[in-house]
Order: sequence, then structure tokens, then C-alpha cells
Amino acid sequence: MPVDYDPYSDAAMTDATGLYRDLRAEGCPHYMEKYDAWALARYADVKAVSLKGQCLDFTHGQTPGQVLLGEAVLESFSTKNGKEHRQWRGLIANDFTLAAVEAQKPRYRELARRLWSELRPSGRMDVYGDLANRFFCINAGHKLGLPADEAEKYRGLIDNLLHREKGQVGATSERNQQAFAQLTQELAAYIQKIRADPSLASGYTRIYMEAEIDGRKLTDDELLMYLITLMVVGSETTPMVIAAFFYYLDHHPAQKQAVLADHGLIRQAFLEAARFKQPSNMLARKALTDFEVGGRQIRQGQGILFLYASANRDETQFENADSFDIFRQDAEPNMTFGLGSHVCLGKHVGIEAGVIIIEEILKDISDYQIIHEEVVPAYGEHLAGFISMPMTFTLKA
Ligand code: HEM
Repeated sequence: MPVDYDPYSDAAMTDATGLYRDLRAEGCPHYMEKYDAWALARYADVKAVSLKGQCLDFTHGQTPGQVLLGEAVLESFSTKNGKEHRQWRGLIANDFTLAAVEAQKPRYRELARRLWSELRPSGRMDVYGDLANRFFCINAGHKLGLPADEAEKYRGLIDNLLHREKGQVGATSERNQQAFAQLTQELAAYIQKIRADPSLASGYTRIYMEAEIDGRKLTDDELLMYLITLMVVGSETTPMVIAAFFYYLDHHPAQKQAVLADHGLIRQAFLEAARFKQPSNMLARKALTDFEVGGRQIRQGQGILFLYASANRDETQFENADSFDIFRQDAEPNMTFGLGSHVCLGKHVGIEAGVIIIEEILKDISDYQIIHEEVVPAYGEHLAGFISMPMTFTLKA
């Protein structure tokens, strides 16, 4: 019997871990007739297809909703193929290299310290909402030239954009649509302001406003889609990993004590949290050509789901894949940041800033306890993990 898998079923949107195990056990890509699309659950299949860039079409979008349901595509470099993708991504890629991120670490640390110092006296916080999500919105805004208070306004809008009601299929709710309309309006007003006075433009906004490739400049509508993409992509994922870091360590007291005693372990614990609870649950594209993978023939135009969260739990890739183990020897390679031409651009930002935020917290506390009854798991097709992680903590004497 083939597995009954629909990424929009309540079971899959609540927690797909068991379904992913069953899909991997099928031993090949899983066909979803309803969407004329394939779900890749096994590490080897996700890897093989990720490396077939010339067979993949990103122009129909990258999210499950865009590829399976035909939702509107936000056209930015992420939704371009081949050379065009490389050229437009390449305009800001230098700012994401490890060396460039190293140079930004003092700014990350200062911001992390400032936000944490506001929370420290209370002995309690939601590490996702009060700290990590704030940090990454302010950081994304900063890179677009937006002041911190303005960037923070977008936090709630991004949450509302990604929110799913029980059983909701796609970004169809009033809450999603209002959030998108407001985000669009606010950023369109920002573009108008800098068009009127270009000296106000900075960061990636300036780069994309001034860029000309093959004699073509971005229109205001296109620039808007770039800004929305760059505001949204980095803001949820790393905070979810930080939430998972605290959550799973709290469930594994010996590992927690080891990290509290030796902050040199923070990085590997962060990376294990990202493998174990991969936040970008799945992404999608269409097939540009016919090709074969895992014994199945994919046809041109069919959708393909890359189930990254499943690949990261593949028992043929990771020993005891379903165990959270910060000391595992087989942590790399993994699918946390994807693979191939559209591999995560912000990988080093996520890791370095994520580690710094955790270092700043752990420097000051001797222990913490998760308030389990108040933890909020993410619900929906797109993201997996936690979107609220309340905890109490004890400050060092
Ligand atoms: C731990 C945190 C993060 C995780 C797990 C993550 C994961 C991913 C994954 C899996 C992809 C591949 C998308 C695909 O397959 O289509 C991706 C793409 C991307 N990520 Fe991240 N990401 C993280 C943090 C960030 C941050 C902090 C930024 C920005 C500062 C960022 C910016 C991007 C961009 C721009 C792309 C699109 C790349 C392209 O299409 O060329 N990410 N991310």
C-alpha cells in the first residue's frame, strides 16, 4: 500500500515525522496524483535532484503553495534559473561569504547583547519571539537599509503571512492576505521614498535599485519582490533552530549540562538542532526536463517537493537518525541548508549569528527550564519546529 501522503493533510502539517519515515521506507520518490508532483523523502534522492540544476525550473516558485497550488510567485533571484539566477544572486553574494560574515560578527554581538539585556532582569522570556525573531528581523531590515524600529514592524506581518489555520490549504486565509497586502504597501512606500531621494538608499536596496544586468534594471514592482523575499527568508528559520536548541537540550539533561559547562559545544549543538528539527521543512520546484531518479521517471512540468526535514532524518545517512545527539560523528553532510545552485545564501549568517545569540545568553545563566505547556509548535506545510519557546532561567551569581 503506498503511503497516504498529502503535504496539506492535518497529520502532515501537525508533525510529519512518522509520515516521512513511511515515505522513506517506500524506497523511491513518492508520486502525488492530486498535484501531479513527486515528494522526495530520502536523502539520496534529495541530493541527486538538487545537483541536477539544469533539469529544474524555479520560475514557477519555490514554495509548496506556488508549485502545487499555483500561488503567485514572488519574482526575485530565487525564482530564476541558470545564468539569470547566478547574476542576480551574485550581486549580493559577496556579503554572505564566511569572511564577510566574520566581519559582521561585532554588530551581531552588540545587537544580541542589547536585546538580551532587556530580557535578562525578568528571569523569563520567549527565546523565539522576544529575542531571536526580533534579532533576525532587525538584521534583515538593517541589510535593506531599514531602521530597527521599522524592521520590527514586519515581524508580526511575516508571522501572519506564514500562519495556517487548522486544515488550511495554502496561503488563503484573510490573515495571510492582509499581512501580504500590508507588507507590500509598507515596502512599496519605502521604495517610493528612496526613488524620490536616492541618497536615502543603502544596503541591498541600493544594490538592487542601481543594478543593471544585460541592459535591464528592476522595475519598482520587481524591486519590491526582492525586498519582500530578503525580509522574509532569514527571519524565521534561525530563530526556530535557536528555539529547538533550548528545547531539545532541556529534554537531554546530560547534553544540556555539557553545553552549559562548555560553551565550545554551542556550535555543534546548534547544528544538531538544525538537523533534527530542520525548520525549512520542504521547498519545491518543477521539472524542466524529463529525468530519472531513484528508479522513477519524472516528467517535464511535474512538481517536485524536496522534503529537507525528512532527508535530515534518513536512517541510511545518519546513525540513530531520530536521536538528538550533539556528539554525533556523522552530522555532516546534511540537508539543513539545501544543496546545489539555490543552496541557502544565508547559511553563515544563520550559523554565526545563531551561535552568538546563544553564547550571549549562556554567558549569563547557570540553568534554564522550558515552560512546556506554553511551547507553540509550528503548524503548516512550509515550516517545521517551534514558534514560541517560553523559558525561565537562573542568572549566574
Ligand atoms: C538555520 C537557518 C537557515 C536554514 C535552515 C535555511 C535553509 C535554507 C534552505 C534549505 C534553502 C534552499 C531553498 C531551496 O531549496 O529552494 C535556503 C535558501 C535561502 N536562504 Fe536560507 N536558511 C537559513 C537561514 C538563512 C538566513 C539567516 C538568510 C539570510 C540572511 C537566508 C537566506 C536564504 C536565501 C536568500 C535563500 C535563497 C537562495 C537562492 O534561491 O539562490 N537563509 N535556506
